[in-house]
Amino acid sequence: MMFSKKTLIAAATLTAIIATGCAMSSNISEESLGLRKTDLYTENTTTGDKTSYSTVAAGESKVYERAFENAPPMISHEVEDMLPITIDNNSCLGCHDPLVAASVNATPVPKSHLFDMRKDKVLATVSNARYNCTQCHAPQSDNEPLVENTFKPEFRTQNGMKHSNLLDNLNEGVQ
Ligand code: HEC
Ligand code: HEC
Repeated sequence: MMFSKKTLIAAATLTAIIATGCAMSSNISEESLGLRKTDLYTENTTTGDKTSYSTVAAGESKVYERAFENAPPMISHEVEDMLPITIDNNSCLGCHDPLVAASVNATPVPKSHLFDMRKDKVLATVSNARYNCTQCHAPQSDNEPLVENTFKPEFRTQNGMKHSNLLDNLNEGVQ
């Protein structure tokens, strides 16, 4: 097929316009580079959102949904006066010890916390490996997420949404 010279020039010009247009729309603004949404020149005055943990007292808070089956639950209540956990003072256990928990309406520590994984032995008290509760359990700060989390957990049982049972199925798929 033959094209006239005019048609070819028109087509070339059109291609050039489209190409420039694409190049222009792919310009990236400085404000869009990071999660802070400010440019580099205001770096020094850019501050993050304030951390804002729950101030609701233990016993009056509403527990969070579990993130996934056997995830360590987030702490739903204020922990201000309970930290740091020291060798002589672990106030968490004052309420979450299975001997006390029911009387204060707290979730008792699960079986996995009363078990020595190295010696395969049930313990009468919380394992030393589980003593430092906030190593794994954290409070939630009330902030708008910068990136939406689209993860959706799948719980195999209804109970798994509210309670953990790691020790019962720790060896699943292994033995
Ligand atoms: C005065 C008693 C008390 C103390 C001390 C306490 N808790 Fe709690 N905790 C509760 C109660 C009661 C709940 C249930 C929610 C509520 O009623 O506020 C709870 C809920 C939780 C939950 C959520 C449980 C679930 O089923 O989702 C976690 C995790 C937790 N506490 C961890 C801790 C940690 C870690 C500490 C120490 C820093 C601690 N708690 C200290 C009473 C206490
Ligand atoms: C090494 C990490 C780790 C430490 C330390 C730890 N936990 Fe946990 N905790 C977990 C995980 C993981 C789960 C959920 C799976 C399981 O073990 O059943 C859990 C579950 C729990 C639950 C939910 C129980 C249920 O029936 O659903 C409570 C309450 C809890 N922990 C309290 C505590 C307290 C109080 C301490 C400190 C004495 C503590 N944990 C220390 C990792 C930890």
